[in-house]
Amino acid sequence: MCGIIGYIGKQNAPNILLKGLSKLEYRGYDSSGIAIISKNDINIIKSKGKLINLKEKLKNNKINSKLGIGHTRWATHGVPSDINAHPHLSQNKQIAIVHNGIIENYLSLKEELELKGYHFISDTDSEIIANMLEYYKEENFLNTINKTISRLEGSYALLIINKDDPNKLFAIRNESPLIIGINNEEYFIASDIPAILEWTKNIYYLNNKEVAILKVNSINFFNNKKEAVIKKISKITWDYEVAKKNGYEHFMLKEIFEQPNAVKDTIKLRIKNGLPNLDIKLTEKYLNVIDKIYIVACGTAYHAGLNAKNLIENLIGINAEADIASEFRYRNPLINKKTLVIILSQSGETADTLAALRLAKEKGAKVISIVNVVGSSIARESDEVIYTWAGPEIAVASTKAFTTQLSVIYLLVIQLALLTKKIAEKEAKSLIKEVKSIPKKIESILKEKSKIKEIAKFFYHDKDAYYIGRGRDYYIAMEGSLKLKEISYIHAEAYAAGELKHGTIALIEDNTLVVAVCSIEKLLPKMISNIKEIEARGAKTLVITNSKEKIGTYNFIIPEINNYFTSILTVIPLQLLAYYIANYKKIDLDKPKNLAKSVTVE
Ligand code: M6R
Repeated sequence: MCGIIGYIGKQNAPNILLKGLSKLEYRGYDSSGIAIISKNDINIIKSKGKLINLKEKLKNNKINSKLGIGHTRWATHGVPSDINAHPHLSQNKQIAIVHNGIIENYLSLKEELELKGYHFISDTDSEIIANMLEYYKEENFLNTINKTISRLEGSYALLIINKDDPNKLFAIRNESPLIIGINNEEYFIASDIPAILEWTKNIYYLNNKEVAILKVNSINFFNNKKEAVIKKISKITWDYEVAKKNGYEHFMLKEIFEQPNAVKDTIKLRIKNGLPNLDIKLTEKYLNVIDKIYIVACGTAYHAGLNAKNLIENLIGINAEADIASEFRYRNPLINKKTLVIILSQSGETADTLAALRLAKEKGAKVISIVNVVGSSIARESDEVIYTWAGPEIAVASTKAFTTQLSVIYLLVIQLALLTKKIAEKEAKSLIKEVKSIPKKIESILKEKSKIKEIAKFFYHDKDAYYIGRGRDYYIAMEGSLKLKEISYIHAEAYAAGELKHGTIALIEDNTLVVAVCSIEKLLPKMISNIKEIEARGAKTLVITNSKEKIGTYNFIIPEINNYFTSILTVIPLQLLAYYIANYKKIDLDKPKNLAKSVTVE
């Protein structure tokens, strides 16, 4: 998704903007650009393609400026091109903007402006904002901004510079994230924390429709009634070092290897006297009234949600449903005061997930979110939030966010089962003991990375792969196949193993790769039958299992753990498999094509 960076201070703005943009590359983009004010003039430099193209254009550009805005664009309206890249200028070249989000009524606004004599040069929805600002321009630029945004429908994070106010930078957001970092006498504005971590950990969060006016040495906030707002500085706990590769070839590999510590960090302070101790205000009385739990998320987080559903039903005995946020929000789910909604999101900014949260609250449900990014929109709007302390996840393919989400789910389910007296303290303690053993067990799997690397060598030329499993193993098959397709571009599909015979088995032929996850003891005989059926049709199987039996063509054995928690171990070899296959294919796997790290538009 698009990324935003802005700077005002004493350093040379183009350098800061380029550095910031390079930290935003992981979000996914197809063009980039900057606008700076120098000698009372706005200079815009932008380029299609990777940031290197923009850097090339800036190489001989010696413009010195202390104020500027920058953008990485992920095309929505109009193809990736120099013209569609941000920043966009108003027709009279007085105002420049960068925009994240989508202006849903841009066509009608464009027609309106065209009737007033405005001409547009790009295909973007964003250009109308620059011209709207020009159209409503008055001496008090805060009025101009408020008039403009009162006409906009949709989501936006906006940075604006204005030739008539050459010492100011204006920032505003609605439903798209924007943070402002402060370090002595300089300000760094960004759509995402890693972009500014190098310079500061002190940040302000902007609320919807709040405007920030920044000058060197001063910052003022206003609400949409133009009243001044006093804001507190929040401190980011992430270290800049964590947002660097530290010798790993890719962020994804680094993040896979960070999982033992990320899981440890997520659980250690939440276990007291051998029992879960999450700081949440759910009482036994409240839980006894609850008759339905929805777990809502997208992508990888949804796969963690499926695990939550399964464990809630098994250990707490409450009816639970895992839902894809983009479906949930439009299917009129039956929600009332007796519904608890659990939202899962690494970024805390996924547009569909945020909309699902709001829908749930509107209908009277209580919302708990499990989120990685502190202060994100989902975290702020939930009734309760439990953070996964995974640190920044930079690679587009989610790995440590998933395993830390599972860790929180394990603690949460055990805590709620205990609270509702579905399990006794003794059982809870023995389950927690198992949870505490997870980091070491992940570590031991990672030590065997070369086995997976070897297996990956046989499959990286393949065009298709199938992943199968039953119960919780099926959810990990889904996660494994998502990992493979998103970074290796190999067509991969996951099936409930029992469903194969109902159609998909027709696609199995000589040497088709089938990855089977089988870690649930009572389902093992069924899985073995499914594996034999497909091998009989020529498939090569890779079996991820805790059984010592040689089940498939290739076998990877995970350490022993209580069956409720095998998912957090079986997923690790599948992350590695996807990684090595993509790496053999020489894919830029931290930034896979067409994908964005945080999906902040619908
Ligand atoms: O930030 P979120 O957890 O809400 O993101 C959800 C999905 O967009 C994300 O998990 C996506 O599927 C990943 N690329 C998967 O690796």
